[in-house]
Formats: sequence, C-alpha cells, structure tokens
Amino acid sequence: MPDMTGKTCIVTGASLGIGKETAAALAGMGARVVMVCRDPARGEAARADIVGQSGSSDVELMIADLSSLDEIRGLAAAYRQKHQQLHVLVNNAGAYNANRTTTRDGFETTFGVNHLAYFLLTGLLLDVLKASAPARIINVSSMAHLRGHMNFDDLQSAKKYSGMKAYGQSKLANVLFTYELARRLEGTGVTANALHPGVVRTGFGKNNPGWWGALFGVFQVVGRPFYISPAQGAATSIYLASSPEVEGVTGKYFVKCRAVDSNTESRDAAVARRLWQVSEEMTKPAMAPAR
Ligand SMILES: NC(=O)c1ccc[n+]([C@@H]2O[C@H](COP(=O)([O-])OP(=O)(O)OC[C@H]3O[C@@H](n4cnc5c(N)ncnc54)[C@H](OP(=O)(O)O)[C@@H]3O)[C@@H](O)[C@H]2O)c1
Repeated sequence: MPDMTGKTCIVTGASLGIGKETAAALAGMGARVVMVCRDPARGEAARADIVGQSGSSDVELMIADLSSLDEIRGLAAAYRQKHQQLHVLVNNAGAYNANRTTTRDGFETTFGVNHLAYFLLTGLLLDVLKASAPARIINVSSMAHLRGHMNFDDLQSAKKYSGMKAYGQSKLANVLFTYELARRLEGTGVTANALHPGVVRTGFGKNNPGWWGALFGVFQVVGRPFYISPAQGAATSIYLASSPEVEGVTGKYFVKCRAVDSNTESRDAAVARRLWQVSEEMTKPAMAPAR
C-alpha cells in the first residue's frame, strides 16, 4: 500500500459509492482527505464512516453543490484559504439523469455536473496543484463515453433530450478534457488521467424520481453477477491517485488499472480544443451588471 503521508487529496462526490471508497482508501494510506459533498448530513455521516474505517482523523468535509458555478467558486476559495497544497484532485461526482433538468446557471444538469464542474473546479485549483507538484488530477469517466458524441449544435440537449446521449456526451467530455488538460500541463509535474471504474453497485441512477430510479435498483438485483462492489469500483481511482507505477504518466484512459484506448472522437485534439473554449466561455464569471 503506497504511503500518502504528507499528501493532500480532494475527492468530489464522497458521500457514497466510488467516491466514498476512494476517500476512505486514501485516508487509510495516511493522506489528508478533503471530501466534497452537497448534503451536510450525508457528508458528515460518510466522514464519520471513513474516519472509523480508515483510522485517520485527518478527513475534512467541504459542502458544495457542484451543479452551481457559484458554489464551485466558493468551494475553491474556501479550500485555498485553508490549504496551501493539493497533491491529488479526484473529480468523481456525477449522475445519470433520465429526464432533462437544468442547473441554477441554466445548463442541462448532466453536462453541468459531469463536465462543467470538473472543468471549473480543476481550473480554479490548478495553480495550487502546480505549486504542489508532483500532483495528479483524476477524472472519473465511463465506458459510456464509447457511445458518446459532442453535439456542439445542441450541447445542452435543448432541442431533444435522451438521458443516455446526455450521459455519454458528458463522459466523452471527461476524456477530451483530460487529454487537453494533459497537453496544457506538459512540463508542470501535474498529470491528468481519466478512467472507467467498471459497472459498480452504488447509488448510481437512483437519484432519478419514480420508476427510473427504481429501475436502477432492480438492475443491481437482477444483474448482481455483473456488478462489482464500490471498493472494487474505486480501485482504478485509488491506483491513479497513489501508485508509484503511474508517477509522471499523463493523458491516458484507464480501465482495471491499465491504460487502454478510448474512442476515436476522444482523441481528436480539435474537438478537445473546441470543448475547452466553449467550457471556458460557459464558466467564466458573469459580467458585472451594467450601471
Ligand atoms: N456506478 C457505475 O457503474 C459507474 C460506471 C461508470 C462510471 N461511473 C461514474 O462514477 C462516478 C461516481 O458514481 P457512483 O457510481 O459512485 O454513483 P453514486 O453512488 O450515485 O455517487 C455519486 C456521488 O456524486 C455526488 N453528486 C451527484 N451530484 C452532485 C452535485 N450536484 N454536487 C455534489 N455532489 C454530487 C453524490 O452526492 P449525493 O450523495 O448528494 O447524491 C454522490 O456522492 C460518476 O462520475 C459516474 O458517472 C459510475
């Protein structure tokens, strides 16, 4: 087990599932872990579990709803006020949304939480990561990216919504963002990698109201042999966050702790640059109201 003493890590979506297991493992390796959760009660309950499970009390909770650009900015500012260093950022929080909803900022929620939150939080913490180098950024994507396509004509799925298409696009965006980030970070000592965690028995999909949420629960019972545990699902995130084997490795997509090919569109640098520009535009602070 790698020794992470002296390292500070952020894990988003650490209230349950893959994020909680990742946070617990890193705490168990001696890292200072900052959990980012949106619900104070669920976050505190998870923090108590992680402290018990890992035996480390160096586990902190920060509250932010990552569907809000303002809350992401507040989170980054609060982090920077309290901590001088950041060695590992695990962008993990994400969801599948069967029905189209929008965030407070007016973005389609899947695109907002699964992609824009990764993009903005990373950007706001990039100088701290660089100052702490060697440092690592880990973006939890999915094999769902294989069927994803960046629909720049309708990124917000305003004309037509499909939960699967919106999810696939957001997870493709995770891989494109990772590769472009790795190119831009060359020579800084900060690496960026993406991963598919496996098909994992978590709270995934259960956020959906009505029969959609129930269906995800049914899948997990009927398809039990096909699902892996949250601890197994966290293995690749933990590996990328801590293993000496991947020190300096950057711009790759991992499955089961091995670098594998992602889809063709994800490797198109022009698409990645375009996504970066669009994301920058969408997340820049609103202009002050005209007097
Ligand atoms: N499970 C799978 O089979 C699978 C497969 C491929 C990829 N993934 C990816 O793995 C990642 C983790 O998913 P999981 O399976 O662990 O799902 P999960 O059990 O539903 O956990 C998702 C986490 O994200 C948090 N989250 C969701 N929306 C948020 C928001 N607006 N602000 C802050 N936190 C938010 C949730 O917090 P709350 O407790 O507040 O809801 C929860 O902590 C996701 O990026 C997902 O796309 C999962």
